[in-house]
Amino acid sequence: MRNVAVVGIGETAFGEHWEKSLRALAVEAGIAAIRDANIEGADIEAMYIGNMSAGKFIGQEHLAALAVDQAGLVGIPSSRLEAACASGSLAFRQACLAVASGEYDIVIAAGAEKMTDLQTEDVTTTLMGAGDQEWEGWLGMTFPGLYALMARRHMYEYNTTREQMALFSVNGHKNAALNPKAQFPFEITVEDVLNSPLVADPLRLLDCSPVSDGAAAVIIASEDVAKRFENPIWLIGSGQATDNLALHDRKSLTSLRATKIAAKRAYEQAGIAPEKIDVAEVHDCFSINGLVALEDLGFCERGKSGKFVEDGNIERGAAVSINTSGGLKAKGHPVGATGISQIIEIVKQLRGECGKRQVPAEFGLTHNVGGTGATVVVNIFGKELKER
Ligand code: COA
Repeated sequence: MRNVAVVGIGETAFGEHWEKSLRALAVEAGIAAIRDANIEGADIEAMYIGNMSAGKFIGQEHLAALAVDQAGLVGIPSSRLEAACASGSLAFRQACLAVASGEYDIVIAAGAEKMTDLQTEDVTTTLMGAGDQEWEGWLGMTFPGLYALMARRHMYEYNTTREQMALFSVNGHKNAALNPKAQFPFEITVEDVLNSPLVADPLRLLDCSPVSDGAAAVIIASEDVAKRFENPIWLIGSGQATDNLALHDRKSLTSLRATKIAAKRAYEQAGIAPEKIDVAEVHDCFSINGLVALEDLGFCERGKSGKFVEDGNIERGAAVSINTSGGLKAKGHPVGATGISQIIEIVKQLRGECGKRQVPAEFGLTHNVGGTGATVVVNIFGKELKER
C-alpha cells in the first residue's frame, strides 16, 4: 500500500445556516479545500462524501451524485458513506484506501449535514436511527438517554463526578472561543454546566453537542504527488472497528470496544504509543463520551479520566491537548461533517495554522464515533512521512 497525505482542507462555519442549503454548504467546503491545495477541480479523480441522513433531515438522497454535480465534476466516480456520526471518517478512510491502493492519485473526501431545518424532537428521532430501532428507539430511548446510562455507570464504577464531566465541556468551550468556525465561540464555567437545563439525567444541556449545519472537505494525494505540495500532512495510522449496535448487548457500558480495537490498529500502523500524541480531536457528543475516549485511546488509565481532566491534562499544551477546535460540544456536530472537520483541525495544528489555539504538535489523532460506539474510526497524522 502507498502512503497518503492530506494536501488541502476547507470547511464552512458550523451552526444554524438558515440561508444556505446542504448543497451550498458542501460546495463552499469543497471549493475552499481545492483552493487551499492550489489544484484545479479537474485534478480530482474521485469523490467520497460522508452523510448520515440527508433523506430524513432535508428529504434529499443520492448525495454522491448531487455533490459531484454541484462541484462541476460530473463524470468521476462518487460514493456516499454512512456510519451515523462517523460517516465523515468513513468517507476519509475509503478515499485514503483508494489512493493507497494505487487506483487514484488525487481525491476529495467530504462530509456534510443540514440538521437545523427540523424541530429538535424530529432531529432526535432521526438521530436515533443510528441506534437499534427495534430494541432502543421504539421503546423511547434517545441518544442523550443512552449516553446518560453510560455516564451513570461510569459514576457508579469509578466515582466519576458531575463536576469532572462538566470540566470536559468547559475545556471545549475555552478552545471554541478561539475558533471563528465554532457554533458556540464562548467560554463557560462548571457552574454553568451544572445549572443548565436537565436533558437526560445526569446529562445537562451543556454536556450535549448541539444540532448543527455544516460541511468540511479534504484533498488527499498519493505519496509521489503529495511530495510536490508545500505542506503535506501524512496519515501514518488508521483503524476502523465495529461493536454491537445496541448498548445493552455490549460487555461494558463504560468503555467502547470499537475505540480500543481501532486505536490499537492505528497506533500499531503508526508505530507510536499514546504518549506520543500531542493533540487529539475526540468524539465528545456528550461529555461522558469525551472522558471514556481518554481512557480507551490510552491517554489515561481506565476509570481515571475524571481525575485526568481535573488535573488539567487535556488543556492546550498539557499532556495531550484535547479538542482544540472546541470539539463536538462547542465547535458543533453536523453529524456527517464531523469526522472530516476533526481531521482539518489536526492538519491545521500540524501545519501550525491554528493561531491563538495553536499547540506544539508533531503527532495528532482523530477519534470519530458512530451511534453509541458501534462504529469507530481512529486516524493518526504526522508531519513527517513514515517509511513503510
Ligand atoms: N450547547 C449549548 N447551547 C445549546 C445547545 C448545546 N448543545 N443546544 C442548544 N443550545 C442553546 C441554543 O443556542 C438556544 O440558545 P438561545 O436561547 O440563546 O438562542 C437554547 O440553547 C435553546 O435551543 P434549542 O434549539 O431550543 O434547544 P433544544 O432544547 O431544542 O435542544 C438538545 C437541546 C441538547 C436537546 C439538542 O441540542 C440535542 O439533541 N443535542 C444532542 C444531539 C445529538 O444527539 N447528536 C448526536 C450525538 S450521538
